[in-house]
Amino acid sequence: MKSKKEIKNICCIGAGYVGGPTMAIIADKCPRIQVNVVDINLKRVKQWNSENINNLPIYEPGLAEIIEKCRGQNLHFSNSIEDKIKNADMIFISVNTPTKKKGMGKGKASDLKWVEASARQVAKYSQGHTIVVEKSTLPVRTAEVIKSILEIDNYDNKEKPTFDVLSNPEFLSEGSAIKDLSFPDRILIGGENQDAIASLCDIYRNWVSSNKLIITNIWSSELAKLTSNAFLAQRISSINSISAICEATGADVREVSRSIGSDSRIGSKFLDSSPGFGGSCFKKDILNLVYLAEYFGLPEVANFWNEVVEINNWHQHRISKLITKKLFNTLSSKKIVILGFAFKANTNDTRESAAIQICNDLLEEGANLCIHDPKVGINQIMKDLNGKNSTEENFFNSTVNDFEEGKWMKKNDLDSIFDNSDAVVLLTEWNEYSKLNWDYISNKMRTPAWVFDARSILEPSQVLKSGLNYWRIGDGSNY
Ligand code: NAD
Ligand code: UGA
Repeated sequence: MKSKKEIKNICCIGAGYVGGPTMAIIADKCPRIQVNVVDINLKRVKQWNSENINNLPIYEPGLAEIIEKCRGQNLHFSNSIEDKIKNADMIFISVNTPTKKKGMGKGKASDLKWVEASARQVAKYSQGHTIVVEKSTLPVRTAEVIKSILEIDNYDNKEKPTFDVLSNPEFLSEGSAIKDLSFPDRILIGGENQDAIASLCDIYRNWVSSNKLIITNIWSSELAKLTSNAFLAQRISSINSISAICEATGADVREVSRSIGSDSRIGSKFLDSSPGFGGSCFKKDILNLVYLAEYFGLPEVANFWNEVVEINNWHQHRISKLITKKLFNTLSSKKIVILGFAFKANTNDTRESAAIQICNDLLEEGANLCIHDPKVGINQIMKDLNGKNSTEENFFNSTVNDFEEGKWMKKNDLDSIFDNSDAVVLLTEWNEYSKLNWDYISNKMRTPAWVFDARSILEPSQVLKSGLNYWRIGDGSNY
């Protein structure tokens, strides 16, 4: 390409948690650009186009309003992949890159089959010059693979298309995606061709100041994304490991976090102890880093990062074991209320949620679970718990069933859910859980009843005055 290209038409492949919100913001901030988001998943496309704005496939605060404003104007969702690629000046690849389930690198390396399929579609249908932007999180040097695929000679009956490939990883967090996209800490762009970089910068400059645009080489950009997630996850594993020491010694992890976080070299963010990090990316991206280190003959580096994931697994089981211990070492047929199933508040996403592991552990011990989450539906929970042992609404009505065990059900109201329960386990920090009336709830529970607050969002005195036993993460006090 000889000069900077003005971008009038964008195609984004992948209408998921990243593609959907990111393109909504670009459409909102750049009214003169037509933005087409395409996906092979027809159900998802239909949901994005659904008239009822509450039926979007993704819940993010502020997202529905932007979709309502831009959809049908300069933001379009469809499965017309060929057509939208043909007309695009710039194509974002925003498809899933999960951990490989089989073959070489199984359990660690990224499965790039969706990225490869996208690149093949781009190679086949693009016309003229197209800038291809890696938005998905990818192993270092994936751009090389994409470039090779784009070179494939399958452009029959048309002039040879040309391409530039850029890396532009996304740093949004679920639950705050719209805020993160609107006010990013930085925009990272890796690439070689200065004109292509300038075209992408021009898009971002519509709402992001130039000093936040970081331009680098493509490999550093790809690696910086993996490293960023690895560092964030490492902080959580670090503070969660300290929470176990706090509980053993009488210290309080909140005080430790406050104290270390006030050191400007450490900083105060990502020091909240929790039931363990979840989400689709931390584990997968660290494992990807582990795989890269192993591949390049750096086993010590691989072990270092692998431990961040191992501690997270250990920590989730630690919480399940602790609950069992407090309930007289048996959960058989006990009714436990689970508050929160999403991996964090303000999202309907449950991928790698700590709740999955902890619920499975409790079911394995024979507990009967009543699960509540304001945004996660029963079908999702069914998938996450492998469909096993879900039960009918009336199972938990009246009294606790003495004979059945290891069953679960989803409840949508925060009233009857507590009837005859032995314990409440709070796993997601939804705001509504911090407003519960514990005096009212304690009257509904079987004594001695426990409240386990794995997010420490409850006020201990409020729970304790209602006569309930109370445990919270990283708190060594003897209540
Ligand atoms: P997702 O699974 O929600 O969405 C991916 C979408 O791509 C799916 O709807 C899928 O049907 C579609 N797709 C796959 N192959 C396709 C093809 N060939 N043609 C058209 N559509 C196709 O995934 P996500 O959470 O949006 O993540 C996407 C990427 O962004 C991943 O690499 C992830 O690591 C990265 N990322 C995610 C987040 C996050 O918060 N979820 C944040 C930053 C980066
Ligand atoms: C994370 C990163 O924060 C984003 O920058 C990145 O773009 C994204 O991964 C990605 O690549 O997918 P996300 O997983 O959406 O975002 O959410 P986070 O806010 O990072 O939370 C991840 C997990 O860590 C959650 O389970 C959360 O509850 C937990 N967490 C977070 C803690 O346990 N303690 C904390 O102090 C912060």
